[in-house]
Amino acid sequence: MIQSFYPPQRVLMGPGPSDVSPRVLAAMARPTIGHLDPEFVRMMDEMKELLQFAFNTRNPLTMPVSAPGSAGMEACFVNLIEPGDKVIVCQNGVFGGRMKENVVRFGGEAILIEDDWGQPVDLAKVAQAFAEHDNVKALAFVHAETSTGVRSDAQALCALAQQHGALSIVDAVTSLGGIELDVDGWGIDAIYSGTQKCLSCPPGISPVSFSERAVAAVKARKSVVPSWFLDKNLVMGYWGAGSKRAYHHTAPVNSLYALHEALVVLQEEGLEAAWARHQANHLGLRAGLEAMGLKLLVEEAYRLPQLNTVRVPEGIDEAAVRSRLLERNGIEIGAGLGSLAGKVWRIGLMGHASNTRNILHCLGALESALTAQGHDLERGAGVAAASTLIE
Ligand SMILES: Cc1ncc(COP(=O)(O)O)c(C=O)c1O
Repeated sequence: MIQSFYPPQRVLMGPGPSDVSPRVLAAMARPTIGHLDPEFVRMMDEMKELLQFAFNTRNPLTMPVSAPGSAGMEACFVNLIEPGDKVIVCQNGVFGGRMKENVVRFGGEAILIEDDWGQPVDLAKVAQAFAEHDNVKALAFVHAETSTGVRSDAQALCALAQQHGALSIVDAVTSLGGIELDVDGWGIDAIYSGTQKCLSCPPGISPVSFSERAVAAVKARKSVVPSWFLDKNLVMGYWGAGSKRAYHHTAPVNSLYALHEALVVLQEEGLEAAWARHQANHLGLRAGLEAMGLKLLVEEAYRLPQLNTVRVPEGIDEAAVRSRLLERNGIEIGAGLGSLAGKVWRIGLMGHASNTRNILHCLGALESALTAQGHDLERGAGVAAASTLIE
């Protein structure tokens, strides 16, 4: 007989999922009710309001897609891009590549702007692309590149898009709740996120928001949206305004309780306070890493506080360090991807996991893993340096 599954206790300090707050886990275990129950519908209205708060927007079309971040990405492209549309896509890591793939699969023409992994999107290259191409429908980019730990200047990129009459499509999977994000202030037209990063929820839901301009673009389509499930015209019959909700799909009721609770937690803390906590904890971790002789990959000006990319020192078996952290200390950190595979570790300090205890635990564990491989470092220096900043 197969037995019940009991996952081990872990400290999730990788690129996501991040540790889920006990309040959120408890909310998820509340009784399942019908997805058209008046009480559930009331919760949905609150959810929209909470998401508007988190995204800093008044967009009426703000809702959670019942599927992970990749589905939120697809929801933006499948609704906004039609065959023949030109889209400038910025790629400086894994996820920009997926945006390009979406454009191409929906029949669009992707104008690819590439930057090295570890660098932000280069505004001058984007301006050049707008100068060289007429009738660009949209500019697509990743705000916080999880594969490299880089923040791009979303405000300036959206301003460029507006200047050229293009829509902006923004990946905020890792940025929402962790760094400044201002959908209305920056004029973002379509944005998607995920629950499993700085919102500290289990994975599986993707908050999205469309501006009035984006909604108008969906309404003005010449062709039908080629996905039934993600068609915003249809899904708004369930998530739209008013008390008349029509069945579209069976909402993941308990996962939505979790997201509601996570957003309540964020509201209690306050957006600015959450961003400041991520930054302060990043500085603590950085001080500890540097005191151990480790170096961060990304220049300070573009560094994500919620995802720290650390160069693996010469001669260190990076996979052995990660395995040791997991097996001995229960700590998960991430490996490098693509051109950074084998060269970096990715240490997440996202949402609930961005706290002093995790930082000190991780620094202590890293110190013994590195020492075990003969790396020369001063014992205790990492924890001591971090403690002066974050205790
Ligand atoms: C920046 C970014 N975009 C998109 C995704 C895809 O999200 P999901 O894995 O929830 O489908 C991720 C996941 O890590 C991500 O980090």
